[in-house]
Amino acid sequence: MKFLVTGAAGFIGYHVVERLLAAGHQVVGIDNLNDYYDVGLKLARLELLADKPAFQFIKLDLADRSGIAGLFVAHQFERVIHLGAQAGVRYSLDNPLAYADANLIGHLNILEGCRHNKVGHLLYASSSSVYGLNRKLPFSTEDSVDHPISLYAATKKANELMAHSYSHLYGLPTTGLRFFTVYGPWGRPDMALFKFTKAILAGESIDVYNHGEMHRDFTYIDDITEAVVRLQDIVPQPNVNWTVEQGSPATSSAPYHIYNIGNSSPVKLMQYIHALEKALGVTARKNMLPMQPGDVMDTSADTDELYQTIGFKPEISVEEGVKRFVTWYKTFYKVQ
Ligand SMILES: NC(=O)c1ccc[n+]([C@@H]2O[C@H](COP(=O)([O-])OP(=O)(O)OC[C@H]3O[C@@H](n4cnc5c(N)ncnc54)[C@H](O)[C@@H]3O)[C@@H](O)[C@H]2O)c1
Repeated sequence: MKFLVTGAAGFIGYHVVERLLAAGHQVVGIDNLNDYYDVGLKLARLELLADKPAFQFIKLDLADRSGIAGLFVAHQFERVIHLGAQAGVRYSLDNPLAYADANLIGHLNILEGCRHNKVGHLLYASSSSVYGLNRKLPFSTEDSVDHPISLYAATKKANELMAHSYSHLYGLPTTGLRFFTVYGPWGRPDMALFKFTKAILAGESIDVYNHGEMHRDFTYIDDITEAVVRLQDIVPQPNVNWTVEQGSPATSSAPYHIYNIGNSSPVKLMQYIHALEKALGVTARKNMLPMQPGDVMDTSADTDELYQTIGFKPEISVEEGVKRFVTWYKTFYKVQ
């Protein structure tokens, strides 16, 4: 099949493209290669895809309305996996308008492209951050998510609402993917594992927020790609018996579905740091700091529905995943 993958030079996008190509699909990847983090890392990911004949990269901004419209007309994609976005919770406090452009206008442009060109299935990245002030753990797609605590989270929730309206109005099948803290080789420099590794190897101390009293449902990248590639084949169907009063918020009378994609075994931040110290053979010097605004204390995914649908649950342990990240980091940055 012919796929569009947005954010193809990004962490998750790059890995998803690799998986789709390995399965024999044709993929067009777009990305605007912005400098939110090291562009060299984005280009290095693309370099690995450069010699694959079934892959084409186009530099394009999601917010470029006519550019995105023209792309859809020219390529007539069968499926779209929309992973391009302004990511990061903390940056949304400093630069909120970047989130409006990429995550709101950009998402609408993708929905319009899908609508006018009869795309068979749109999958798009949401986030565990939509659970915001929710305290009931594990986080379930059955729960209401109307209390985000960062603009980033609010745009991700908005993406789900926008997708629902297109599923309802135009019968566009949409699947929202609530990812829980993804990590692994080729990971993002603005995320904890990358920052900690870089600091420890440079002999610097690491900043540990909320004095380490946080839990995260860290999910290894290969588990994410496996779930995404399986879900792209599960095209949501309208459920005529669904009602707001009795139906699940994760489904609808429209062809719409939301899934949690997490490991469902949350780990204490200090355990994550210990796994890193073990993989590096170094004990980190730690700056114990208070909680940062916009951050949630704990995340934990209820993945029963995911398992029932695709027969797969994320399974790589933090110890194993962190070891694989460190191996990649040392090779890529040529450090010992
Ligand atoms: N990594 C995680 O832990 C995590 C967790 C929850 C949700 N997500 C979501 O998953 C998706 C992928 O995240 P990632 O970790 O790979 O992030 P990433 O930043 O590595 O990838 C996103 C890519 O989108 C591109 N992009 C940003 N704005 C763009 C625009 N206006 N036009 C075109 N391209 C643009 C960036 O250049 C980048 O390469 C995002 O939607 C993110 O919000 C990620």
